Amino acid sequence: MSDSQNNNPYPPDGKSRDTYEKTRFEDKHLHEVHSSLLREKEEPSENFSPMPLIFVGLFMVLAFWSGIYLVWYSGDFGPFHYDETAKPGEAIDDTPREVDMLALGRRVYSQNCVACHQSNGRGISGVYPSLVNVDWVQDNPEMLVKVMLSGLAGPIEVNGSPYNNAMTPFGRLSDQQIAAVLTFIRTDDSFENDSYEVTPELVAEVREQYGSRTDPWTQPELEEIHGPITGGWSPSNGNSSSNDENDDSGDGEAAETEES
Ligand code: HEC
Repeated sequence: MSDSQNNNPYPPDGKSRDTYEKTRFEDKHLHEVHSSLLREKEEPSENFSPMPLIFVGLFMVLAFWSGIYLVWYSGDFGPFHYDETAKPGEAIDDTPREVDMLALGRRVYSQNCVACHQSNGRGISGVYPSLVNVDWVQDNPEMLVKVMLSGLAGPIEVNGSPYNNAMTPFGRLSDQQIAAVLTFIRTDDSFENDSYEVTPELVAEVREQYGSRTDPWTQPELEEIHGPITGGWSPSNGNSSSNDENDDSGDGEAAETEES
């Protein structure tokens, strides 16, 4: 019996059962068993584990806090509230800042006019008229506001060169933007027009009178109101006060304000 037991190939390493049992709790043995277990990695498995609640909570706190932050520091998203000179703790000065008309005009120009009149303002000969040192730009600003509000089409002459194309209206721009872009092309050195500025008030006046007009202006129409376009117009010598001959109502009012 005991013989047959001894023949039993157990344990597999050939040691007698006794030896095996004796060495069972020896350091070396334990070590071997554990290291072979440690080599085995856990089987990866597909699973779904929900985001830990602590993160969900953190996100909610963050969202809440950013809402509060926006309400406190957004300045109502007003364009004039940003003040790089303000120091923390000092009272916020939110009086509107004066707008640099030339800087604003330069921006409006590059966003709206360069596609046709080009970035240097010289246009494309025969297609888009130049704005550099030309009679139109130096003429009555009221006429230019009309062109901006309703566009310009049909045959025109700019410094004696004929054009027959159409300019899109820009009535969607604000009074200030229109005033700024006209001021820019009339007074910026690179445009060589050496004229004077156009105010948002003038744009508002013209918009009130002519803003509803949807047809583009033509040169004959403008000349009927403002006299020939020569570039020589100035508020003092204004050939035929601009409003005398116009057929719209409200002439008297406009003529009065013209004086100022
Ligand atoms: C879609 C092209 C186009 C855009 C954009 C455009 N214009 Fe014009 N502009 C024209 C054309 C074309 C004429 C001449 C119209 C005609 O032939 O009747 C003109 C004429 C003018 C004139 C009178 C003629 C002259 O040369 O002085 C002025 C002033 C003017 N544009 C200013 C502007 C300003 C300022 C902007 C930007 C706010 C602008 N234009 C954007 C095409 C354009």
